[in-house]
Amino acid sequence: MAVTSVVGLQWGDEAKGKIVDLLTDQHDIVIRYQGGNNAGHTVVSGGTKYKLSLLPTGILRPNKVAVIGAGVVVNPKSLLEEIARVRLQGVEIGSNLLLSDRAHVIFPHHMAEEAVLEQLRKGEAIGTTMRGIGTCYRDKIGRTHAIRLGDLYHSTSYRKKVEEIVAFKNTVLAALSPNFQPLDAGAIATEYAGYAEQLASNVVDTTRYLHQALAAGKNLLFEGAQGSLLDIDHGSFPYVTSSNSSSCGIHSGSGIPERAITKMIGVAKAYTTRVGGGPFPTELNDAIGQHIRDVGHEYGTVTGRPRRCGWFDGVATRYGAMISGIDTLAVMLLDVLSQLDEIKICEAYDINGERTTHFPSHVEDLAQAQPVYRTLPGWKTDITHMRKVSDLPREARAYLDAVSEVIGIPVSIVSVGPDREQTMM
Ligand code: IMP
Repeated sequence: MAVTSVVGLQWGDEAKGKIVDLLTDQHDIVIRYQGGNNAGHTVVSGGTKYKLSLLPTGILRPNKVAVIGAGVVVNPKSLLEEIARVRLQGVEIGSNLLLSDRAHVIFPHHMAEEAVLEQLRKGEAIGTTMRGIGTCYRDKIGRTHAIRLGDLYHSTSYRKKVEEIVAFKNTVLAALSPNFQPLDAGAIATEYAGYAEQLASNVVDTTRYLHQALAAGKNLLFEGAQGSLLDIDHGSFPYVTSSNSSSCGIHSGSGIPERAITKMIGVAKAYTTRVGGGPFPTELNDAIGQHIRDVGHEYGTVTGRPRRCGWFDGVATRYGAMISGIDTLAVMLLDVLSQLDEIKICEAYDINGERTTHFPSHVEDLAQAQPVYRTLPGWKTDITHMRKVSDLPREARAYLDAVSEVIGIPVSIVSVGPDREQTMM
């Protein structure tokens, strides 16, 4: 029995979707356990490009079940739009999609509140995706203003709850922002009741379902969204997302204990990217950074924002691998580095005159970190058609060895392009 986890080790966008898609063949159920429609996966499957946001990648394969677990925050409107879009591409979505009745619901006031808060932070904005993720998780933790998917099917309490919450949000947001237009609680309650009707057959107790599947010997694949360095507890706080985006989120977000997992695959790009605010020690604000952005198409799947690009940060990625408990590494987008004369790997930071190989816990220390680099020769060869590690130029193999050495974990997957075939296992 295989219970596999695929988790990002950097600041998200590590191309996890491709690895999940490759591994789906060997699994029965693919589970998202945290985040929401802030995530964006581009998966090229059978020559077709799919852009997924909330739907687990497993939805693309026939005879697989895709589960959205209790730890996910669900915007039902955008989920239904995503379902419609993917269906138009020929994907069947019916009883193969299960949503946890414990998952919390994103409402219009979550987006409105986020817009006001980000505006108030001005120069120090987190640079969120504006999908109401953090504000929904805040209400979940606060409990009194939260609505779960299961609540949408309890008609007596549901409307009253929406009215109370929207009245509260209208008061707070009007006080914070003079331009705020009050939201209509009745209209929202009716709109969301409509979404609930459309999703009724998909909303179940997924925790029970997953435990029954485990007991029946099914193979489970956990699909992390974002990356370990954006983890709410262990990432570069406050420039993080509002969920446990490291593998720490698997247990709480699915109800499946971590001891059930048989393999933890950590996914990292051959370089580093970051979207939104926050310190980024190896960032390249120069022609090389722009080259990586252009060749790697480093623009956000969800927001279209240009991603910040930099050298591979071994300190940050090793930390991500440590908190996620990784067994093996997948190195993605190696081909993007092919035309460079030399390539750097950050092995340590100098912070206020002290050298360290540890990722700092305070964001101000991270902001002070000066990367200490190991410089390796580039290979200047197109590697996108290569299918075996032994085919790669010596310099590219030396680079992979250096990545593995700095992280302290073997590399078992190397990706040299978006297609399934462009993968060395
Ligand atoms: P939020 O998740 O929308 O609250 O955004 C918080 C931070 O996480 C911002 O810096 C976002 O750019 C970042 N973020 C959220 N989702 C993703 C993702 O899927 N990939 C990369 N960064 C993300």
